[in-house]
Amino acid sequence: MVMGVDIAAGMLEQAQRKVEALGLGNVEFQLADAEVFNYPANQFDQILCANTFPWIAEKLATLQRWYQFLRPGGRIGIHTPAETAYVGYIVETDLHHLLYSAICPVVRRSYSASSSIK
Ligand SMILES: C[S@@+](CC[C@H](N)C(=O)[O-])C[C@H]1O[C@@H](n2cnc3c(N)ncnc32)[C@H](O)[C@@H]1O
Repeated sequence: MVMGVDIAAGMLEQAQRKVEALGLGNVEFQLADAEVFNYPANQFDQILCANTFPWIAEKLATLQRWYQFLRPGGRIGIHTPAETAYVGYIVETDLHHLLYSAICPVVRRSYSASSSIK
């Protein structure tokens, strides 16, 4: 099962149309603020933040929240433009700061190895 989350109803309506056009039967959507989105722990294999990280105000708290939703071995991916683009550079800088100053060493090692958070 795939769950799509966005804070804007119009974005979810667009996404729903795409899912229907593709005939996908395993996608559901939830209108929510990803910073305070509540869900039981240990539910997801992967969380992908698609082009939204710059809008997350409390980045560390949000990453910690998402981390709780992952099953053991799960990953968080941050999808963003390449770091040569301004937005990509900002996200990369934010992540570098967060991962090297605040999040546990296991996460740091994973980030170094693969640029994603295990
Ligand atoms: C650049 S758009 C990317 C949309 C889509 N994820 C994609 O990759 O095509 C950024 C999206 O982030 C959403 N957004 C911003 N802050 C959010 C939040 N706190 N929680 C959930 N979605 C948020 C906006 O509504 C918008 O749809």
